[in-house]
Amino acid sequence: MVVAIDGPAGAGKSTTAKAVASELGFRHLDTGAMYRAVALVAAERAIEPLEASKSILIEPGPPLTIDGAAPGESLRTASVTEGASRVAGDPEVRKVLVERQRQILADGDWVVEGRDICTVVAPDAEVRIWLTASELERAKRRAGESDADVASVLEAQKLRDSADQGFGRSTLDKPEGSVSLDTTELDLDQVVAQIVQLVEEARS
Ligand code: DC
Repeated sequence: MVVAIDGPAGAGKSTTAKAVASELGFRHLDTGAMYRAVALVAAERAIEPLEASKSILIEPGPPLTIDGAAPGESLRTASVTEGASRVAGDPEVRKVLVERQRQILADGDWVVEGRDICTVVAPDAEVRIWLTASELERAKRRAGESDADVASVLEAQKLRDSADQGFGRSTLDKPEGSVSLDTTELDLDQVVAQIVQLVEEARS
């Protein structure tokens, strides 16, 4: 079974997807980390992102590996975050990564998160969720993870939300036929419980 989760930055996709996967005994695929991996390798080797995307083997883990080595927190630096957003705007890179994502998802049970999972990568997924939260709540959560103030996170978030559109991505629009889950007022356990219930309904 595939549980697909899309939504904007800061909606809690990664934390939620990891928790749901652990609750259900499914594997977890973070497709944003794959765009980050391509940006990291392109910068490190001073090559074009497309060349980077074609020359590396990404395994989902956990931990996610690039040619067998785990990049860990180096995927989360500001420059990789910025680079990943640019890389994700290259249709050729997207083609390579979407193909790899479909290959990975072909076997077993998965919780997979990103921006185009419900629409492009796994439109036939048994459970399709659009995870969202208010703009301010998302910025507060992001600010809480770093030393940055909410106002500057909010500004950067607006820019990134608008850059992370196109190519069928559901950054700010609910994918057709998906279930919308607004996490603004919910804690992680409540969100996980709702998704597990959707999975149980899909199974029955
Ligand atoms: O979710 P994230 O911040 O780790 O994603 C990194 C970048 O990749 C972000 O700019 C959005 C983009 N992305 C995408 O375009 N499609 C996906 N399926 C996942 C992420």
